Amino acid sequence: MTAAGYVTDVAYVPGFYPQMSPVAMRYVAALNGIIPPQTADGFRFLELGCGLGRCLTTLAAAHPRGEFVGVDLNPDHTAAVARDIAAGELGNARVITADFGHLPDDLGVFDFIALHGVYSWVAPSVRDEILATARARLAPGGLLLVSYNAMPGWAHLQPIRGILRQYAALRTGDSAQRVRDAVAYLVFMRDKHAKYFEDNPRAAAYVDALVQQDPRYLVHEYMNEHWTSFYFAEVAGAFGQEGLSFVGSLPVFTNFWDLCVRPEFQELFRTTTNRLVTEAHKDFCANTAFRWDIYSKSPRMLKDVNDRLREVDDLHFRVTRAGITLPYQANLGVVTSTVQGPLYQALLELLTGRSLRLSEIVAAETLRGTPPADIVRAVDAGVAMGLFDITAGQMGEAPATLSAPVTIAHPFNKAVLAADSLGGRSLALASTLSGTGHSLGDLDAAILHELVERGRDGLASRVAARLEASGRTLQQNGQPVSDASQRSRLVEEACQSFIDTSLPELVRLGIVIA
Ligand SMILES: C[S@@+](CC[C@H](N)C(=O)[O-])C[C@H]1O[C@@H](n2cnc3c(N)ncnc32)[C@H](O)[C@@H]1O
Repeated sequence: MTAAGYVTDVAYVPGFYPQMSPVAMRYVAALNGIIPPQTADGFRFLELGCGLGRCLTTLAAAHPRGEFVGVDLNPDHTAAVARDIAAGELGNARVITADFGHLPDDLGVFDFIALHGVYSWVAPSVRDEILATARARLAPGGLLLVSYNAMPGWAHLQPIRGILRQYAALRTGDSAQRVRDAVAYLVFMRDKHAKYFEDNPRAAAYVDALVQQDPRYLVHEYMNEHWTSFYFAEVAGAFGQEGLSFVGSLPVFTNFWDLCVRPEFQELFRTTTNRLVTEAHKDFCANTAFRWDIYSKSPRMLKDVNDRLREVDDLHFRVTRAGITLPYQANLGVVTSTVQGPLYQALLELLTGRSLRLSEIVAAETLRGTPPADIVRAVDAGVAMGLFDITAGQMGEAPATLSAPVTIAHPFNKAVLAADSLGGRSLALASTLSGTGHSLGDLDAAILHELVERGRDGLASRVAARLEASGRTLQQNGQPVSDASQRSRLVEEACQSFIDTSLPELVRLGIVIA
């Protein structure tokens, strides 16, 4: 087994990324006219470089019919994943300690392959192994998700990585200590007006973001020998050589060029169909620094909207949160877009408080007379703008009252809550109804844990006691709160707000049973 320049002395940080969900990948395929793998009767999912495995295990808990395999070369990572698999009673997940060049021969093929935070961070020879794995292990019609640091967004930040790594090499200690020293040195150079920072004010501001980061994240982001960033065309070319074609990308709005590019730059997109050209221009107009791209092997195309209604009708759609009214405005970074009008009003009413399949939406009485293609386009644009979201199955009802004791359904969610609440970072709980994970801040997670373990009486004082014991600070307006009575009041408010807003949603997702 070889790490090929990848750091192994410091373990990474856990994280859940909803982009990795088969639901998100399948939706992007359908949106771009491609038939995604069917999942109702089971599917196989491979994660390359699974790290601490929170994507793998959360998705395995959310998809009991899927079979999930994670691969990572770092035995500390895979041991942690194996512990989570056991604690979460995930009979449908396993993890393999191996480098990508030495995967077991009998691994088989997969409907989904995903790699996040890997492709830009490994040696060229390892990227070749990833590409060979994609060719050999992705089933025909399967989908592959790859994320990477992108150009041109990284252009002015690349020198920061260079100087961080060079300074860290002069220091002693493990990679975490050396990266801490290197960040301190960058702050010094920025504060003393090193010319690079004077000429690149965004890079100077970026130093403040580095200071806030967990050193374990910084180690894995910056300390690898072969870190690099790519233009879209380079990655599309490499996967193209292996017989994989570009499908689309995440977040969903990036599939709509008019939501990524300001109107004055849109002429080129109206007249050019070459995706290599349009994606390059899009990345330039948006100064893209990170991409989540989806590829397919031997994709089968959807002929028209009726084909989509037949072939991909198991996904459900719902309004993302209660209380949305029209006109609805979405700020998508470069473009701000507004939706309004009778079609969206009807969709909003139809998809509030419940989730429906596309065929059910199209057949709705309130949309009678509107062509299905217009309805589907409006749903997709609504998803892109964050008005609607997609779920694997039908959501439960919002509970009328929540006076009874609450419990957690899945052993995986119980184990995550018991281990990680008040751990200083958000955690994700799995929903078999949505087919993905749902993030909770660590304070909300502690409130839920207390609620489940010991009920509602004295909830706020128990959470406050746990906060005291953990040493975690509470913040208000970006400032730590030291006054005891103010802290108690903030905890009371957090408990009430959790019970009023987050808890009903967790019940609808089937994560909490009330
Ligand atoms: C930045 S981490 C990302 C982890 C995880 N995907 C996440 O997003 O949390 C990259 C992971 O790839 C693993 N890795 C790097 N090179 C590898 C190789 N050649 N074979 C297997 N795993 C590798 C590392 O050990 C590390 O866990």
